[in-house]
Amino acid sequence: MCGIVGAIARRNVVPILLEGLKRLEYRGYDSAGAAVLGGAADGKLQRIRSTGRVVELEKLAQAQGLNGDLGIAHTRWATHGVPSEKNAHPHVSGSVSVVHNGIIENHDAMREALRAKGYVFVSDTDTEVIAHLINSNLRDDPGSGHALFDAVRRSVAELVGAYAIAVISEADRDHLIVARHGAPLLLGLGDGENFAASDTSALIQVTQRVIYLEDGDVAELTRAAVEIVDTQGNAVERAVHVSQLSAAAVELGPYSHYMQKEIFEQPMAVANTLEMVTSAQSLAPQLFGVDAEKIFGDIDSVLILACGTSFHAGMVARYWLEGFAGIPCNVEIASEYRYRQSVPNPKALVITISQSGETADTLAALQYAKSLGHQYCLSICNVPESALVRAANLRFLTRAGPEIGVASTKAFTTQLAALALLTMVLAKMRGRLPAVRETELLKSLRHLPTALQSVLEVEPQIETWAREFVPRHHALFLGRGIHYPIAMEGALKLKEISYIHAEAYAAGELKHGPLALVDKYMPVIAIAPNDALIEKLKSNLQEVKARGGQLYVIADQDTRLTGDDVLHIIRLPDHAGLLSPILHTLPLQLLAYHVALMRGNDVDKPRNLAKSVTVE
Ligand code: G6P
Repeated sequence: MCGIVGAIARRNVVPILLEGLKRLEYRGYDSAGAAVLGGAADGKLQRIRSTGRVVELEKLAQAQGLNGDLGIAHTRWATHGVPSEKNAHPHVSGSVSVVHNGIIENHDAMREALRAKGYVFVSDTDTEVIAHLINSNLRDDPGSGHALFDAVRRSVAELVGAYAIAVISEADRDHLIVARHGAPLLLGLGDGENFAASDTSALIQVTQRVIYLEDGDVAELTRAAVEIVDTQGNAVERAVHVSQLSAAAVELGPYSHYMQKEIFEQPMAVANTLEMVTSAQSLAPQLFGVDAEKIFGDIDSVLILACGTSFHAGMVARYWLEGFAGIPCNVEIASEYRYRQSVPNPKALVITISQSGETADTLAALQYAKSLGHQYCLSICNVPESALVRAANLRFLTRAGPEIGVASTKAFTTQLAALALLTMVLAKMRGRLPAVRETELLKSLRHLPTALQSVLEVEPQIETWAREFVPRHHALFLGRGIHYPIAMEGALKLKEISYIHAEAYAAGELKHGPLALVDKYMPVIAIAPNDALIEKLKSNLQEVKARGGQLYVIADQDTRLTGDDVLHIIRLPDHAGLLSPILHTLPLQLLAYHVALMRGNDVDKPRNLAKSVTVE
């Protein structure tokens, strides 16, 4: 889950590399580095590395006057070896310099073999074996015009694990070599210059023409051309895509943080996601792919696989799919499912939910499901051309736009919008959606962006609450029914960016343990929509109140609660029946954001985390 950028041009590539790294910082931000050729008078490789953010590397680049027309750069999320200068990439062996994203699983055996050949290791990383391996293969090369390319191809054949790498050699100022297997990498095509990066946003300032590499591809970039070979060593053409990503989509604009921007973009993100539906008069399965009607007609259940926030979206969907469409649904954490012996059902629709489409556990879980005989796969994802989208036979793209804050916000609500839509389509196909109800639901989908906009107006009240949370060490989140997963998402948001320990419970579980934790220092956040379970929830709130717990309740306008019943209450200005969980998410995102901000935390880049988890 590190970020990679590479460039070969006829101009100084250092600003391109640094700008690219800044845009990739969501992938990791504990250290960074770059290596360039073509700037030093003696033709030597110039390498800089630093711990901390890319801005530290930028200072170093300025201080040293780094420049060159060929280079590679990296922003790191440590897996092997602590964040430190010596573990930061690029790693160098002889003339070879390498940046890497992923994990090399056979690094121990390879390290021993390379040590036996006399190579000395100076870092704790798995990446250093790649540098030495390429160097050793390069030394054995008799000297063709493609020595580095050939050495990389021979080397990657020996690697086990996931990788995206970019490689340059001091001995060759005219080639940049890249390779991928199980980690994302794309090429950017310029005019007399070419690039490589972990994602499109990193190259937005130089090109919109991109080629997504396939697993097993190795590519040789010169200033004039790119050549790609596949796993078998055959030259292949890969399609050139014109990225629709605009520079504005990845700029902060008037906002102070990406998380803030992304919270406030939710009405638009949901509107974009539902665009094709809201103008339609009826719901059609084809929204999920050309084969959707046939597949949806054949399934008898749903299995959802996801991680983190996307898993919470799946939990919400279970209530919708079973309660509304009448279809049995299981939801599993991808990292658990992939190692569990389960009973496959070829008639189940396997749904992967992912913002990035690159999460290693979710991808592996999907591959495992397929290996067990599952044949129907739907990917709900925010990134077109990502590995999960490509691996599925049905797909629905959430159109949230790039999500950069590590804490997921608009990806979650757009996933929920997509899952609500799926529920409605399946309900209709299973004869559980009369025409009148379909019209009503389409109306509420159309109204959803407006409803979300009005919910955002509770921000000043949430800020008042946030002040009271700042000194707290723990918090409990309660919800019942479909709002229980929303409580889980609220707790996740608070813990990941404010570092306050937060747990979510189904409110009915309170008396089976967590009530023991409740005292006057324990804030308890309850989600209290005016639904069928409200009276049950009110009993649970009384249990908290009787133990002196601090109650913070997010209710609907018409939820019957009085000031006597609770200490603090915020009422949402609008409510949307079936879509209520989507609305109730926003105040919890705002709460986490403001508490983290008031505690002085880096809201967009919380400690120890990364956005795109491409390692197991
Ligand atoms: C990381 C991110 C979370 C995200 C999870 C799953 O932990 O920090 O925000 O929910 O990965 O990612 P995905 O891209 O598969 O939704």
